[in-house]
Amino acid sequence: MNEADREDFIARYGGIYEHSPWVAEGAAAVLGGAPSRDEIRRTMADCIDAADDEQKLALIRAHPDLAGKAALAGKLTEASSDEQASAGLDQCTPAEYEKLHTLNELYKRKFGFPFVMAVRGSSRAEILAAFAKRLDNSPELEFATAIENIHRIAALRLEALGHE
Ligand code: GUN
Repeated sequence: MNEADREDFIARYGGIYEHSPWVAEGAAAVLGGAPSRDEIRRTMADCIDAADDEQKLALIRAHPDLAGKAALAGKLTEASSDEQASAGLDQCTPAEYEKLHTLNELYKRKFGFPFVMAVRGSSRAEILAAFAKRLDNSPELEFATAIENIHRIAALRLEALGHE
C-alpha cells in the first residue's frame, strides 16, 4: 500500500476496533492494494491475535459499558451508539438501567475490564441473560470471550461499511 492508500485505509477502518486505530495501522502495514472485505477482516483479527495480553486488555478496556455513563451522556462513538440503540439499550426502563448498572459494576470488579458483547440483533432480555451467565465464567474464559465478541463487533462494523 502506498502512503496515500495507507492514510485512506486508516481513515476508513480506524474505528472498526473501538478507540483502537493501531489495529488498522497494523493491518495496513501488511495488506496489499485493493484488499477484499474478508482480507481486511482476517488481517485485522490476526493483528489482535498476535498482540500480547496487555494490548488485548487495553483493547477490551477501550469499550464503553453497555447503557453506561458514556451512553447516558451521549459520548459514545457513532458505531457503539448505533449498536446499543439497535438492541434497544437506549430505551431501558429504570429497572433495566439499574440491573445493567449493577451487572456492569459486578463484572468490572470481578474481571478488571468491561463486559463486551456483540449486541446487534439481541434483545435487552437476551443481553441481560447473557450478562448474568458470563459473570460466572473464569477470568481466562471471559478474557477470550470478550476478544471473540470484539472480533464479531468488528466484522459487523466492516459489513456495515458496505465494501465487498
Ligand atoms: N457491543 C457492541 N458495541 C459495544 C460497545 O461499544 N461496548 C460494549 N461493551 N459492548 C458492545
